[in-house]
Amino acid sequence: MRMYDIICKKRDGFSLTSQEIQFFIDGVTNKTIPDYQTSSLLMAIVLKGMNKEETAALTLAMMKSGDIIDLSQIEGIKVDKHSTGGVGDKTSLVLGPLVASFGVKVAKMSGRGLGHTGGTLDKLEAIPGTKIEIERDAFIKQVNEIGCAIIGQSGHLGPADKKLYALRDVTGTVESIPLIASSIMSKKLASGSDTILLDVKFGSGAFMKTLEDAKKLAEAMVAIGKSLKRDTRAILTDMDQPLGLAVGNALEVKEAIATLKGEGPSDLTTLCLEASAIMLEQAGVVKNAKDAYPALEAKIKSGEALLKLVEMIKAQGGDETYITNPEKFVKSAHVFEVLATSAGYVQHIDSLAIGIASMKLGGGRETYEDVIDMSAGIVLNKKVGDQVQIGDRLALVYTNKSDDVSRPILVDVHDAFTYSKTKFEVKPIIHAYIK
Ligand code: URA
Repeated sequence: MRMYDIICKKRDGFSLTSQEIQFFIDGVTNKTIPDYQTSSLLMAIVLKGMNKEETAALTLAMMKSGDIIDLSQIEGIKVDKHSTGGVGDKTSLVLGPLVASFGVKVAKMSGRGLGHTGGTLDKLEAIPGTKIEIERDAFIKQVNEIGCAIIGQSGHLGPADKKLYALRDVTGTVESIPLIASSIMSKKLASGSDTILLDVKFGSGAFMKTLEDAKKLAEAMVAIGKSLKRDTRAILTDMDQPLGLAVGNALEVKEAIATLKGEGPSDLTTLCLEASAIMLEQAGVVKNAKDAYPALEAKIKSGEALLKLVEMIKAQGGDETYITNPEKFVKSAHVFEVLATSAGYVQHIDSLAIGIASMKLGGGRETYEDVIDMSAGIVLNKKVGDQVQIGDRLALVYTNKSDDVSRPILVDVHDAFTYSKTKFEVKPIIHAYIK
């Protein structure tokens, strides 16, 4: 088999066989295919696409290129959730403990934030002492004993995807549904859980800008999961404004704690309850997701859901008194108010602009080497649909940066809000459910 022939075949619009796809991924993993040929095939895939069978074969080959995590020593059904990335997305910190409080196992591997999106691992590290690198045996023991653990991805998960993603990033070949779907699913499938719930975000702060594209991506990923006999479902959720009110690591952990106490913002609470209900259906705890709501609310009311987070943090070496007393979280030196200069009903809050502003305040990284300021970020006072008068507070901005650095960022936060003169109906956070 020759890589040259495979490139020409895809260039001419033909489907590749699973043997050809395996040859390609083996060559990427073993570094026997030069980057220029890999990039050329990636571009041909962007332009000509891949059918369901090719996408499934690509996913399988990438999944097998590295470690496949064996969770068989964990008793019971292991559920997992993956978000395609957003601004203010702290759902894993709520869902993990909430679902685990039912005895369902959550053995989760998460990532770090980059650019305008945050990462669950960074949020966990805002809780002093919390370890996200845990030996396999300790990880399994923790999930068996407590029900949940959230750790960093194994260094050897999907090496072919790592190589391909780095090349796609610099060759204009990120935007392809089969490439994105196989990249995400190869890692999720290798992580070993029995069920997967995908939270596919769309809107200004998301990877997919439109509902239509998000739907295509979600359908492709669900089809891959199904073809590999893994219970995979997806929800399509709105990222046309940040999720919840808080953006920034310690601020988001505090909001997750409030949500586990039943005191969280309504969009985040709705998303967490609906996603947890689906995960409980996947685990067989309820027959139908909608039957789970009373029990979910009871777990929050009784404090059992919050207690699971306390147990998880303690088990991972963190100081759990931050969960029971969130006032302990480190505070930034400066807090600035952003005030409205227009009146109306908030129509849109540009999540991308808010995510970038939070990053510039110190709350995120521009490159993997940057060090995060856990206290920095933004807390919104207004959300889409809220009425605003001139002079109302739109947001509080937390930072340790100087006034000179902060002032232009305050303007960016102000300008992220746009208004409608008339009242309108706010769309629900979840737009569709695919299974
Ligand atoms: N996230 C991934 O892991 N892969 C992609 O291709 C895009 C987003």
